[in-house]
Amino acid sequence: MRDRKKILVIGGGGREHAIIWKLRQSPRLLEVYCTPGNAGIAQDAVTFTTEYGGEYSKLIQRAANLGIDYTIVGPEAPLAEGIVDAFEAAGMKIFGPCRAAAQLEASKSFAKEIMSTARIPTAESQTFEEARPALRCARSLGAPVVIKADGLAAGKGVVVARTMEQAEEAIRRNLDAREFGESSRRIVVEECLVGEEASILAFTDGNALLPMSSAQDHKPLCDNDLGPNTGGMGAYSPAPVVTPDLMHEIRETVLLPLQSEFQRRGIVYKGVIYAGLMITDEGPRVLEFNCRFGDPETQVILPRLENDLIDLVEAVCEGTLHEHSLQWKEASAVCVVMAARGYPDKPEKGAVITGLEDVKFDDRAVVFHAGTTQRGSDVIVSGGRVLGVTALARTLPHAIDAAYTETVKIRFDGAHYRRDIGRKALSRL
Ligand code: AMP
Ligand code: GLY
Repeated sequence: MRDRKKILVIGGGGREHAIIWKLRQSPRLLEVYCTPGNAGIAQDAVTFTTEYGGEYSKLIQRAANLGIDYTIVGPEAPLAEGIVDAFEAAGMKIFGPCRAAAQLEASKSFAKEIMSTARIPTAESQTFEEARPALRCARSLGAPVVIKADGLAAGKGVVVARTMEQAEEAIRRNLDAREFGESSRRIVVEECLVGEEASILAFTDGNALLPMSSAQDHKPLCDNDLGPNTGGMGAYSPAPVVTPDLMHEIRETVLLPLQSEFQRRGIVYKGVIYAGLMITDEGPRVLEFNCRFGDPETQVILPRLENDLIDLVEAVCEGTLHEHSLQWKEASAVCVVMAARGYPDKPEKGAVITGLEDVKFDDRAVVFHAGTTQRGSDVIVSGGRVLGVTALARTLPHAIDAAYTETVKIRFDGAHYRRDIGRKALSRL
């Protein structure tokens, strides 16, 4: 076929594995590469390692030598460092926002400022660089209160403080002890919102905006939303809490005003806009924005997407997204994340994973790899979130059953997963 494409995916988690799995369903795929990838991705893509600590010339050279048509960036860190600006300066097409646009995720105070200017509904908050006024603010809001490190912290920078003691500790760990280094130099102290959470992602080329079907993440480590916040312990899509009316409201009051504000500032935002929302009694409120596909949300959204992902990546990079609309499978997807012992603080690495070959891989179940690496003939644990066991079925209860049926077949020492992924939605059905 004339227009088959070579794609490079940057990253090595469950999100990137899901992106590659979806790309492989496209008749337009010529070859897919991934750096750094993981043990599962290595079965589906050509993987290689690069160091990309803010310096992309070697990677760009390699991509050019390989004849890559489009590069897709998974994680936030390279976006915040300016990987898109570097690729585009070298004349390479890349899917993701430029550095200036990625500040939406890289700085919570920037996100708050842009929401305030664009009148996007969000929690009341203030930004601080010193502990004493931050504490005063937290006390005046009263517990529960939310303390957020300003910069990137791998999903661990937010503390929902149930007591003033917890709030004070979180403030001091950031502003005095610099728990997350530079990311802790500034904090946001925020009103605690009550409701159910949902994630709405949208493709944009800077002009057109195509919201994806809804999803819900499960941030806390343990069942019933107990334990510390993580990068996400599981997800399902669609999320019944997001009714069609609510979806319309989110588009009109959150996504479009955000896009207009970027346009007003002369910043081209392209790639994925991710709104993390609390659905409160007063309507949707933004908890955070991310500047990329969510993880694990992507692991349940892409299996439901009917469109060819290469068409959409191309449309985003070429500015032709207005020619497209999204189609979704009338099915539910559930992803159960299996994590390593010690996650999120100090995940234990090295356990051998067994049972992967017992999982029934077809169009109804797939295991996306995250923190895995190949050692000889063994697949071993190499990160906090290890696997995302994903199932697709006609209804949510069936998808939940199918995901757990496969999850229990996989074993490794210290494996931890939540048993209640999707349960919140059952009461709404
Ligand atoms: P974030 O990284 O900002 O999405 O925060 C991580 C998690 O902390 C969210 O998914 C929520 O569960 C919780 N959270 C953040 N901000 C608030 C808030 N203002 N009120 C209640 N919970 C929050
Ligand atoms: N699931 C949350 C995130 O991708 O940040």
